[in-house]
Amino acid sequence: MQKKMLFATLLLGTLIMAFSACENDNAGGSDPDPQPSNEYVAKDSDFDNFRTWTVVSKLDKALNDDGRAHSNGARTIWIKQADAKRGSNGQYPVGTILVKEVQGYGVVGMVKRGGSFNSDHQGWEWFQLDSGGKINSRNASNLCNGCHAKVKNLDYVFTKN
Ligand code: HEC
Repeated sequence: MQKKMLFATLLLGTLIMAFSACENDNAGGSDPDPQPSNEYVAKDSDFDNFRTWTVVSKLDKALNDDGRAHSNGARTIWIKQADAKRGSNGQYPVGTILVKEVQGYGVVGMVKRGGSFNSDHQGWEWFQLDSGGKINSRNASNLCNGCHAKVKNLDYVFTKN
């Protein structure tokens, strides 16, 4: 009788260990919300419904002369992560996404890609989007880099404090 109890206890212990090992495996593999990696490569679906995101700024015309790079029309700027803040390194977290739509001009975006991407310019990737938010082109354009670097202290984002 005692032997049976001992056996049962051992079996139970082994099962519990096996199950917790499984849980640990899962955390690294099929977990639906994995640890953020240090690089975020945006895809079309990341821009879905951008007009419903948090409005950062709504302007009747360009913020300043530089803003005329995207014509002088009325514009709205959205951020996908409503609570995004610059961290202790002065930068937004990897994966942060901003989109700007200018009437009569089009839609552009910037994504904090991070990793080793565009590391001279704090890891931003620049996008031209169509009106539905599909990616037309993406790059580390020196045109975009150069002008946005004027607000390096704001991590390249003109319109968000
Ligand atoms: C000559 C300067 C200049 C150039 C070049 C430029 N931008 Fe901008 N951008 C601005 C200014 C100023 C704003 C602030 C809002 C406004 O007036 O449009 C802005 C705003 C933005 C925003 C909204 C986030 C923010 O910074 O407020 C995005 C996204 C953006 N630009 C993308 C781009 C992309 C993509 C390119 C390159 C294809 C680019 N910009 C080139 C000056 C520039």
